[in-house]
Amino acid sequence: WPVYAPYVHAINRLKKERGAVILAHNYQTPEIFHCVSDIVGDSLQLAREATLVDAEIIVQCGVHFMAETSKLLNPEKTILIPDVKAGCSLSESITGADVRLLKERYPGVPVVTYVNTSADVKAETDVCCTSSNAVAVVESFDSDTVLCIPDEYLAMNVAKQTSKKILTWKGHCEVHERFTAAELLAYKEADPTIEIIGHPECHPDVIAVCDYSGSTSGMINYVKDTRPSRVLLVTECSMASNIESEVPDVDFVKPCNLCPHMKRITLPKILDSLVNMTEEVIVDPAIADRARLAVERMINLKN
Ligand code: 13P
Ligand code: SF4
Repeated sequence: WPVYAPYVHAINRLKKERGAVILAHNYQTPEIFHCVSDIVGDSLQLAREATLVDAEIIVQCGVHFMAETSKLLNPEKTILIPDVKAGCSLSESITGADVRLLKERYPGVPVVTYVNTSADVKAETDVCCTSSNAVAVVESFDSDTVLCIPDEYLAMNVAKQTSKKILTWKGHCEVHERFTAAELLAYKEADPTIEIIGHPECHPDVIAVCDYSGSTSGMINYVKDTRPSRVLLVTECSMASNIESEVPDVDFVKPCNLCPHMKRITLPKILDSLVNMTEEVIVDPAIADRARLAVERMINLKN
């Protein structure tokens, strides 16, 4: 912690001077999550909070699609991302042109895309979804068939919870696809009391072994509410580190799969971002209006 202190101090001072707020995803490292963030949350919470903040400058500590979503919802504000290369394997798995081809192949089928996509993809979308509202978004259409893209595993997990026919795409999260049911069963065998909770970006075989599945904030709330004596979070490593101080009675087992994109965001880069007002996220106005509609329809959906 002492090595972080000068950065924490400088960031918090400059943040005040500039009238900026820092939105951070649950996968940010503990020194970002606890020491410099104003608002933390899962993708849906961050999108909602982005519509509520008064500040003219938002520093998005997360990956690029999250910053782009904040820009879509706040076209007049300055949205900064401390490392513009912070991508996402799901977002990179599909382009707007791919979605246009899918729409030609499946005319009239509603398109639900995960927020983990570019603005270009969102512009071709009827309603966006996150891991916490995907089932509700899919169910909001009258159609018997829904395209749920680009995360194949999220779509398969949604398909188990709806009677609708779900068409999908072959995108995967490079972090969650690494977990296997066999490795989780080995933990259960070694300690049958352990609770296993997983993110819906995992393969359905992995989710089948879990005691609970939900968004990153859903997982955090589950641990805080149920206080399992031992728990394994089947997700990115920082989650356990971020919450363990709040639930000292819970023993976290940590099979560590890092998201290299989330880890591009560091305290020195956040400071740089505030000093130089970089990198500013810009969305092509030709696609921004349509992309914004897809995100707003999701936010306005009652669930
Ligand atoms: P959440 O919406 O659950 O926070 O998920 C975002 C993400 O990128 C998980 O890998
Ligand atoms: Fe994308 Fe997976 Fe990283 Fe989340 S954890 S940002 S889905 S690569």
